[in-house]
Amino acid sequence: MITEMTKGLIKATLFVLKQQGDAITTRMYELLFEKYSQVKPLFANAPDNQSKILTQSIIAYSEHIDDLSALSSALEQIARKHVAVGIQPEYYPLVGESLLQAFREILDESMTDEIISAWQEAYFFLAEQLIQREQELIAQQQT
Ligand code: HEM
Repeated sequence: MITEMTKGLIKATLFVLKQQGDAITTRMYELLFEKYSQVKPLFANAPDNQSKILTQSIIAYSEHIDDLSALSSALEQIARKHVAVGIQPEYYPLVGESLLQAFREILDESMTDEIISAWQEAYFFLAEQLIQREQELIAQQQT
C-alpha cells in the first residue's frame, strides 16, 4: 500500500509535474533509449504522440492516488496492450529509473529526495499492479 505521507507528497507535486508533462516525457524517453536501447524496438509501431502516453498516464494516475479503484478499467486496457507488444516485468525498473531521473532534471531544485522517494513508491506500486495482471493474462494465453 502507498502511505498517507507519500500520497500527500504526490498530490502536492502533481500540478507542477502536469505543467511540465511534455518536457518530462521527452527527457524520460531520451534517457530510456540512451541507456536501454533494447526496449526501443517495442515502440516501433507506436505513433509519436502515443508513446508519450506512458509518462503522461503515470502522472495522471497519481491524480487518483486516493482511489485507485477508479482506474481498474484503464489498467486492464494497458495490461492487455502491454501483453500484446511483449512488455516484460524487468522493463519496469528501466522506465522507473528514467522517469525519476527526468523528474529530477526537469524540476531540479523543487524535487527534494523526499518527493523523489514518494514518486518512486507510487510508480512501483502502479508497476506492480500492471505486472501482476500481465502475468495473469500471459498464463491464461498458455492454457
Ligand atoms: C507504470 C508503468 C506504465 C504505465 C502507466 C504505462 C502506460 C501505458 C499506456 C496508457 C499505454 C497505451 C495503451 C493503449 O494503447 O491502449 C501503453 C502502451 C505501451 N507501453 Fe506502457 N506503461 C507503463 C510501463 C511500460 C513499460 C515498462 C514499457 C517498456 C519499456 C512500456 C511500453 C509500452 C509500449 C511499447 C506500448 C505500446 C505502444 C504502441 O505500440 O501503441 N510501458 N503504456
